[in-house]
Amino acid sequence: MIEIDHVTKRYGATTVVDDVSLTIPKGGVTALVGANGAGKSTLLSIVGRTLDADAGRVSVDGLNVATAASAAVAQRLSILRQENQVAVRITVRELVEFGRFPYSGGRLTGEDIAQVDRTIEYLQLEPFAGRQLDKLSGGQRQRAFIAMVLCQDTDYVLLDEPLNNLDMRHAAQTMGLIRTMATELGKTIVVVLHDINFAAYHADRIVAMKDGRIVADGSPREIVTPPVLREVFDIDVPVHEVEGQPLAVYFVPGRQPAGDFRVPASAGS
Ligand SMILES: Nc1ncnc2c1ncn2[C@@H]1O[C@H](COP(=O)(O)OP(=O)(O)OP(=O)(O)O)[C@@H](O)[C@H]1O
Ligand SMILES: [Mg+2]
Repeated sequence: MIEIDHVTKRYGATTVVDDVSLTIPKGGVTALVGANGAGKSTLLSIVGRTLDADAGRVSVDGLNVATAASAAVAQRLSILRQENQVAVRITVRELVEFGRFPYSGGRLTGEDIAQVDRTIEYLQLEPFAGRQLDKLSGGQRQRAFIAMVLCQDTDYVLLDEPLNNLDMRHAAQTMGLIRTMATELGKTIVVVLHDINFAAYHADRIVAMKDGRIVADGSPREIVTPPVLREVFDIDVPVHEVEGQPLAVYFVPGRQPAGDFRVPASAGS
C-alpha cells in the first residue's frame, strides 16, 4: 500500500502540491490525470523520492520513503520520470541493465541477465539493444526507459506519461503490458496519462488533480463524465459509450474555431 499523508510542495510563494492525502492499496492500475501544471509529476516524484516534500509523509508498505535506505526503497518502488536525460553515451542494453542495479549492485547474475533479455523482448527493443540512446527515435528511446523501469521488477511502479512519443500500436501495447503486470503479476501501478480514454480503458481507478489538489477520485465510469471532465480540465467533452466503455471525444475543437487565429499583417512580408 502507498500512503500519501498530507503532502505539500511549494516553490517560493506558490504551492504546487497542496496538502494531498491519498491511499493506493496493493494491486491494480491507478491513473493520475489533470491539466498541465496540476501537480501530477511533482506528487509522483515525491512518492518516488526523486523530490523532497515540504510537509507530509509518504510510505510504501509502511516504509517511509524519505528516510529509508535507498536500496530498500529501490527494491520496492521504481519510477519512470517525465523527462529522461542521460549525460553519458550508453546503449539500450546498458540502460536496461541499470534497472537491475538495486539487486546486482553492478554485478549481474544469470537471473538478472534473463530479466534484461525478457524486458528488451517485451518492449520490442531487440533491433536497438546495442545502439546508443542518442541514436534512437523519440519513441524508441521512451521504450528503452520504460524497459529500464520494468526491469527493476518492483511491486510498485510509478510511470509519468509512459506513452509520450509512442505511436498508436506501441502506446496500446505498452498499456496492455502495464495492465498485464497488474493483473497477472499483482503489481501496483500508478500512471500519469493525458489520454483520458487510455485511462478509462485500462485503469481500475482514476485520480484527478487540479491546482495541486485531488478534485476527483473514482472508477473510470465515475470520472469519465462530462461534468467531472469539465471540472478537471475546464472544457466541455461529450462522452459516448462504445463497447461498454466510456469514450471521451475531446479532440473535436470547442468554441475557438481555427479561423479566430490570425497571422499578424506584417508576418511574411
Ligand atoms: N523547479 C520548479 N520551480 C518552480 N516551479 C515549478 C518547478 N517544478 C514545477 N513547478 C511548477 O509546479 C507546478 C506543477 O508542476 P508539475 O510538473 O507537477 O505539473 P504536471 O501536472 O506534471 O503537468 P504536466 O501535465 O505539464 O506534466 C507547475 O505550475 C510548474 O510550473
Ligand atoms: Mg508532468
